Amino acid sequence: MLKGRSLVEPGNFSIGEMEELFSLAERIEGEPERFGECCRGKLLATLFFEPSTRTRLSFEAAMLRLGGSCLGFADPGSSSAAKGESLADTVRMAASYADAIVMRNPKEGAALLASRYSGVPVINAGDGGHHHPTQTLTDLLTIRRLRGDIRNLTVGFCGDLKFGRTVHSLAKALARYSGTHLVFISPPELTAPDYITQGILSKAGVPYQETGSLEEVIGDLDVLYMTRVQRERFFNEEDYIRLKDSYILKADKMALARSNMIVLHPLPRVNEIAVEVDDDPRAAYFRQAKYGMYVRMALLSSILGVVPC
Ligand code: NCD
Repeated sequence: MLKGRSLVEPGNFSIGEMEELFSLAERIEGEPERFGECCRGKLLATLFFEPSTRTRLSFEAAMLRLGGSCLGFADPGSSSAAKGESLADTVRMAASYADAIVMRNPKEGAALLASRYSGVPVINAGDGGHHHPTQTLTDLLTIRRLRGDIRNLTVGFCGDLKFGRTVHSLAKALARYSGTHLVFISPPELTAPDYITQGILSKAGVPYQETGSLEEVIGDLDVLYMTRVQRERFFNEEDYIRLKDSYILKADKMALARSNMIVLHPLPRVNEIAVEVDDDPRAAYFRQAKYGMYVRMALLSSILGVVPC
């Protein structure tokens, strides 16, 4: 039962609970009219202390399509955080108005802290370079829909693996599925953090390799997860400029990949996937964004305990 639960990082839900959400998301996609009123009278607070388009709109669309309502802010400059209010106080206040809170914050650990002060479920929509569990639900549902199974896959992560929270969350989640093999493709400055590779993968016995060359490994992959270099988490602009175009996926590289490989990207993309790849049937990133809305509908109706039978 997910009723009343918070989602701070992917490990908060069991594989079985995630499977339930995926099945529910598929039911919602198949017959959305059955779910159109289930959140009537419920309020979702969206507290976005960091920019977002997809995640915030996707949560708002999800809540509105369930018949619920949203309130919140998309710019911390317009909230009392600008006056120096603590996160704990903002969250306590929002929890007294709303039935659930979705929060994005630039500080690692902010969502965990919020969940401790909130009397209603808190969903982490990204805490700094740490985790982004609803993007992971989106990614896993997309893999399940397009590949049929989440097990026994070789998944390549390419780009900014150091600061990319979507990578950290998805790698952690995939480590729980049998037969997972991970390939990390990045410049040496942007490799995945040790707490993911040694702390989680090595401990769980999940095979992984690290490389600088996308060409060398693309032919081995079932899923290629491209990421943006996270400019906002760099300490200086020169490093960002030097590293930002390290990998650009174009038709020539796609020609080296398997015919059933899928390309995912949490979006927004900057330069890392050339527009010419969008027409390739293996490009799945826009479908992925749509699955994100359905899985968020499944999540919201579950944690609010209003799923119609
Ligand atoms: C990602 C994020 O915010 O971490 N975007 C998203 O939520 N869809 C990835 C990114 O910003 O690069």
